Amino acid sequence: MFVLNSPEAVHDVLVTQSRKFSKGLLFDIARPFIGNGIITSEREFHRRQRRALQPAFHRDSIAGYVGTMIDVAEEQVSTWRPGEVIVMDQAMRRLMTVMLVATLFSTERPDGAEAMAELGDRVAEHLTTVMRGVFVGTVLPAPIASLPALGHRRYLSAAAALRDLADTAVRQARQDPTGRGDLLSIMFTGTAGNPQGMSDVEARDELLSLLMAGAETTSTTLSWALYELGRRPEITDRIKAECRSRPVEVIPSATTFPFTDRFLREVLRLHQPNWLLMRRALEPVRVSGIELPPGAEIIYSAATMHRDPAYFPDPLRFDPDRWLDRSQKELPPGAYIPFAVGNRKCIGDFFSMTEMLVVLRSIVSRWRLHPLEKHRVRPVVQAQIRPNSLPMLVSPWPTR
Ligand code: HEM
Repeated sequence: MFVLNSPEAVHDVLVTQSRKFSKGLLFDIARPFIGNGIITSEREFHRRQRRALQPAFHRDSIAGYVGTMIDVAEEQVSTWRPGEVIVMDQAMRRLMTVMLVATLFSTERPDGAEAMAELGDRVAEHLTTVMRGVFVGTVLPAPIASLPALGHRRYLSAAAALRDLADTAVRQARQDPTGRGDLLSIMFTGTAGNPQGMSDVEARDELLSLLMAGAETTSTTLSWALYELGRRPEITDRIKAECRSRPVEVIPSATTFPFTDRFLREVLRLHQPNWLLMRRALEPVRVSGIELPPGAEIIYSAATMHRDPAYFPDPLRFDPDRWLDRSQKELPPGAYIPFAVGNRKCIGDFFSMTEMLVVLRSIVSRWRLHPLEKHRVRPVVQAQIRPNSLPMLVSPWPTR
């Protein structure tokens, strides 16, 4: 295995010479369980599928989801009670799964919000187990990874349950004559490269890919954001002031909420959840003067790149205002890569920034967050780097 350890090497593999690489071991392990969707597929088929999904992630489409995002966030955050202790990592996992399902997969469900929340809960639970299984299967040799003691059976049944849920969603959408306008109906619509639209199996695999890629990433990032807010009341005050000074109908974005956006960029730098992503060389290739043989497995880690003092002075200091001194554009390509770069760059980058801004606005407008004195928050390394657990006490702002 080779580890890419400079922005130039990362950029070379992900962008300049990307054609010479496939996605590698991590995704080979995931494929039998989540299928051949956009995160696991390769080459022409990947290009075709990515093109078909892209319209759902255009800025105009996202503007259309904001109302649903706000409703989902408000619904959950308004159930908290003054003085209550909320286990934030769990609350964020549920919230972000429900938000993803509600925005992308169902614009008008007849059975309403409760069914959606229940579906979100089930998806969240299975997803966590499946992601843990993929991680265990990647870092351990196969005979050890499949030991029952490591939860192998639980992983297999969670993957099967998730596939069932996705199959049902696809079947229901296919039978729905109203053309719901959500992502599933976009998948069924023909494109120039694929006039028939996607088959049920293709649509199911894309749905699983988007759930895998889009729920845990945002919920883990938001958990770290809330952790930082708990430790830094002065930052909470600045975000609160920004929320107060904007009318509620303003759609949160980098332009309308510049400080909150900088804060999130700093969370994505210091608490980048993706510590292990992979590629595999398809042919002999030279990267940073090193000859890589065909089949070489390659690791790149956004978490490591983001702590390089050459680009981020005093890298362990959490400081949203560092982005005032040096914008992302001034860094060498490959130095700050929360959403990766190149043809496999995150399709949901803008979507997720919008979701996270919406959630932060909902929380900070209502609540102050207090860490529990006796609880020590530790980073835990699994498929992502997440907090071990994040219980926080919530209290309302004093009325002025
Ligand atoms: C904070 C949130 C997120 C982070 C940090 C993040 C990060 C990333 C990264 C680093 C990759 C590249 C993986 C690789 O090189 O193998 C990626 C790919 C991807 N992400 Fe995200 N992501 C986030 C949210 C989302 C959301 C909300 C969605 C969808 C709704 C999404 C969908 C995808 C998809 C489909 C891919 C694969 C793209 C392709 O291969 O063409 N992500 N993401």
